[in-house]
Amino acid sequence: MIVVKTRAELQERLNEAAAKSVIGFVPTMGALHSGHCSLIDFAVENADYIVASIFVNPTQFNDANDLKNYPRTIENDLKYLEQHGCDLVYIPDVEDVYHDKRSFFVDLNGLDTVMEGEFRPGHFDGVVDVVSRLFDIVKPDKAFFGEKDFQQLSIIKYIAESLDVEIIGCPTVRESDGLAMSSRNMLLEENYRKQAFVIYKSLIWAKKNYRKITVNDLKKEIENRITKSGKFIVEYVNIVESDTLVSIDEWKDKNINCCVAVYAGKVRLIDNIKLNY
Ligand code: PAF
Repeated sequence: MIVVKTRAELQERLNEAAAKSVIGFVPTMGALHSGHCSLIDFAVENADYIVASIFVNPTQFNDANDLKNYPRTIENDLKYLEQHGCDLVYIPDVEDVYHDKRSFFVDLNGLDTVMEGEFRPGHFDGVVDVVSRLFDIVKPDKAFFGEKDFQQLSIIKYIAESLDVEIIGCPTVRESDGLAMSSRNMLLEENYRKQAFVIYKSLIWAKKNYRKITVNDLKKEIENRITKSGKFIVEYVNIVESDTLVSIDEWKDKNINCCVAVYAGKVRLIDNIKLNY
């Protein structure tokens, strides 16, 4: 596995090794876990030459402490990437990615104003900016993102409509108790970690029961189930059309997702489930 720190080195390596290959790209912010490894596995199955990036993108953090505390585990990350068959890793500094002052701002047709967009203002501007820049640098044929970040995946699919990159969403990988894998899980205090299964358990309950009660009652019930232990604070529970992310207030014969954001102490967790697929 080749490790490079600049886009110039990256492009040189890509020209040498991957000229005629399908390039699969897995952008990450490091602190890798089995969820990221499964993205690499999907990439290995669907592309010839696998590029990953590790870059904690400052522009997508709307909270300076969150950026400061974001876990950094570079040695482990490199081990995981190599074990799973990654060919080339790009670990740039901020200047290498943001050398070009061009704005990558695009109108996201409202996809960025709900849920995460409402509670983390500017977050998706940062995500869109960095993903556009990374696509511009790596020029992948296919890129792989986790379904755990459901709204991010929708937004990236939307921006990629005008780009020559196929976006592949990969299923959420979960801990044995159901907690969605996330780099932030390693920041959870033990007493929160022990109870955090309740988030996915509530989503599973919602999937089984959603047609029996109103949308509003379902949201309230999910919140009650998550907060019952007195440990967690729910930031939002939302039921949205899967393609537009528009909130619904009555059941529809359309694909819908139930999405939640929950504070476990200082750590913010998100998860979602597809309801009527
Ligand atoms: O999902 C993430 O880890 C990040 O948002 C991404 C896509 C790597 C952009 O920084």
